[in-house]
Amino acid sequence: MNILITGGAGYIGSHTCIALLGAGHKVIVADNFYNSAIETIDKIQEVTNKKIIIYKNDITNYFELESIFNENPIDGVIHFAGYKAVDESIKRPLDYYYNNVLSTINIAKICTKYNVKKIVFSSSATVYGNNMPPFVEKMKLQPSINPYGETKVMSERILMDMVNANFTFKVSILRYFNPVGAHESGLIGENPNGKPNNLMPYITQVAKGKLEKLRVFGNDYPTIDGTGVRDYIHVMDLAEGHVAALNNIKQGTNIYNLGTGKGTSVLELVNAFEEANNVKIPYEITSRRPGDIAQAYADPSKANKELKWEAKRDLLSMCRDAWRFEKNNKTL
Ligand code: NAD
Ligand code: UFG
Repeated sequence: MNILITGGAGYIGSHTCIALLGAGHKVIVADNFYNSAIETIDKIQEVTNKKIIIYKNDITNYFELESIFNENPIDGVIHFAGYKAVDESIKRPLDYYYNNVLSTINIAKICTKYNVKKIVFSSSATVYGNNMPPFVEKMKLQPSINPYGETKVMSERILMDMVNANFTFKVSILRYFNPVGAHESGLIGENPNGKPNNLMPYITQVAKGKLEKLRVFGNDYPTIDGTGVRDYIHVMDLAEGHVAALNNIKQGTNIYNLGTGKGTSVLELVNAFEEANNVKIPYEITSRRPGDIAQAYADPSKANKELKWEAKRDLLSMCRDAWRFEKNNKTL
């Protein structure tokens, strides 16, 4: 299939390009490089030895988007493009609503106009809010802890309503848990601008000596060791989940959790990183980070069964691959 990947130069998008090219699909990337670099496209081509068609386009601009559909036959779209930092969404809510919701409206409109029936959308476990894990797809959503989560709920709703108006569409909404790690080549990975917000890139920068020590946000949660528990998933497993989602896409709207189903605490992840890479991660316990929940992990059984997919890579591989990328690609 010819697949348009919006945000394909970003962290999850770039790994998904590799998985799709490996599965024999043709890939067209549209990205405005707000949070990524054009060099990533060269690296994907180097790893796969395959060509990508690339558009430096903004998905909020309908006319820029339409030029891609005029110039290429498109069988399906994977819509990654969006802003993703929870903290920033609280400070700049309008930018988040504008970018994330308008880009989804444009994708829904253009797919309707050009009769492109297959859409895969990047949603987030954040839509489950304070529900009790393991999270299952049919839970009532509680996203209102931050504007970022609201943009995901709104985008999901827009796509569902599009399908309700025309039931020949096939939409898969993928709710990701915590993607970490990097492609095993060490050529592409997660490269956040400035000081990282997320745990794994923070750990790799401490390991490299770029940051002095990790701050563990709270050790008084009702969890195994008091620190926050998350469902870390190797980004290549997540990428392969998109290939499975496309191969098994069904009529109507279908929602899937892409996670491992296993919860890991902050200190367990630190220990795994030290063990996998034989490096020391100095840390201190600080107060809780506002807006954090104690535990988030998936019930991935629907995706396992219907998409015939499951996450295969373990925590040690996630730690090894994240560290290999950090060592190879960044300077102090
Ligand atoms: P990322 O920032 O690395 O990638 C997003 C890409 O989209 C970037 O290359 C950016 O330049 C591009 N982009 C943003 N707005 C655009 C626009 N208007 N037009 C064109 N390109 C635009 O983020 P990621 O981690 O790869 O996340 C991809 C998607 O998955 C996002 O929608 C994010 O909300 C969702 N998600 C991510 C996580 C996570 O922990 N990384 C978890 C759950 C969901
Ligand atoms: N943490 C620390 N210190 C840090 C960073 C994080 O202790 O420096 C802790 C957090 O308190 C939390 C855990 O590590 O317990 C994971 O935090 P992350 O920031 O890595 O990830 P979150 O689960 O908070 O959020 C991520 C994405 C969201 C997405 C969500 C989906 O950032 O966009 O996963 O589950 F919605």
